[in-house]
Amino acid sequence: MPSQTFSAQDFIALEERYGAHNYHPLDVVLTKGQGVWVWDVEGRKYLDCLAAYSAVNQGHNHPRIVAAMVEQAQRIALTSRAFRNDQLGPFVKAVSELTGFSRVLPMNSGAEAVETSLKAARKWGEKVKGVPAGQQEIIAFEHNFSGRTIAIISFSDEAQYRDGFGPFTPGFKLVPYGDAEALERAITPNTVAILMEPVQGEGGIIIPPAGTLKKIREICTKHRVLMILDEIQSGLGRTGKMFAWEHEGARPDAMTLGKALSGGMYPVSVFVADDEVMGVFHPGDHGSTFGGNPIGAAVGQAAIKVLREEGLVENAAVQGKRLGDGIKAIGAASFQEVRQIGLWIGLELKPLAGGARRYCEALKDEGMLCKETHEHTIRVAPPLCITANEVDWALDKLQKVFARLG
Ligand SMILES: Cc1ncc(COP(=O)(O)O)c(C=O)c1O
Repeated sequence: MPSQTFSAQDFIALEERYGAHNYHPLDVVLTKGQGVWVWDVEGRKYLDCLAAYSAVNQGHNHPRIVAAMVEQAQRIALTSRAFRNDQLGPFVKAVSELTGFSRVLPMNSGAEAVETSLKAARKWGEKVKGVPAGQQEIIAFEHNFSGRTIAIISFSDEAQYRDGFGPFTPGFKLVPYGDAEALERAITPNTVAILMEPVQGEGGIIIPPAGTLKKIREICTKHRVLMILDEIQSGLGRTGKMFAWEHEGARPDAMTLGKALSGGMYPVSVFVADDEVMGVFHPGDHGSTFGGNPIGAAVGQAAIKVLREEGLVENAAVQGKRLGDGIKAIGAASFQEVRQIGLWIGLELKPLAGGARRYCEALKDEGMLCKETHEHTIRVAPPLCITANEVDWALDKLQKVFARLG
């Protein structure tokens, strides 16, 4: 559909008329992106401060990732795992070398990678740890977000994510986020794994107290419970380290990755673990038609190369500090708290500020795209390739909007 003959309102009307109403987006209709910038159908330019929930860490349409995708699409797109292809081997090798885990299971969406981790943990629990079949327990944390499947929402405590979707999958327990003592108390002989986001992204950029991951690592080792980290949003540079667990040297037993594993170009996710855990999967146990497909595998290799070779992780640490310090310095009366790790900032507003949405709307009018998370948090998380000048530009816009809206 040629966008020049349709206005933004036309596209919005089509979406509203024919699409399911399961999102509440800002009314900006994007048609092009490059680096940290995106353009709408009416030619307006915006700084993308959401980066597709960290899927676009490498920046929009990174030329090296686009080239890998186009080149692969012109050769072969999909083989299924019924046959082998010449991209999957190099891709799983690249992921293994990046993560330090010996085995890689490719999927597509983040939720599928998390589902894979739950299946691996349950089967490891029964076949290796010796928990009676059907008794395996997995402990997750309050305010978690790991996707939208039935099993994943079964351990969500967000009422809206569950409302009407029962019956739920049994076998999960919740403990307060970051509370290592509560976690240890919740462990029973049937506990096979804990599943944790090292930083809760959808929860509002919630960073656990220093030392938490280390303590949880020790508890998991002591009780022979798998420590599984969901690094789908926190991983691949967002926190200023390649993986968030590196801040505390708390290497997990397994990990899920997605989003930026393709630089936003294609749905690519993985579950990674060492041989003892991954060894529970045998042919036919698990899979996906598209998982490990040649385009995804080629794009994934390019996305990893870009992250490593272009210094994006280091840049996230430097520009994140500049942005975080700058936001704190604005110090508007409506600020409740500014939480920051790497290039990931949760700007929590006071309840009296009237909600984060109106700030996001005002920022959009200034050419800066942010998205509220929950009612009172503005999330600021631009692509990791942002420059100091672009950070200063964003700070200027934030300053202006906070001065105007109070
Ligand atoms: C930590 C985490 N896990 C899993 C997911 C689910 O990923 P997807 O939307 O690709 O299924 C998300 C998505 O925001 C996430 O932030």
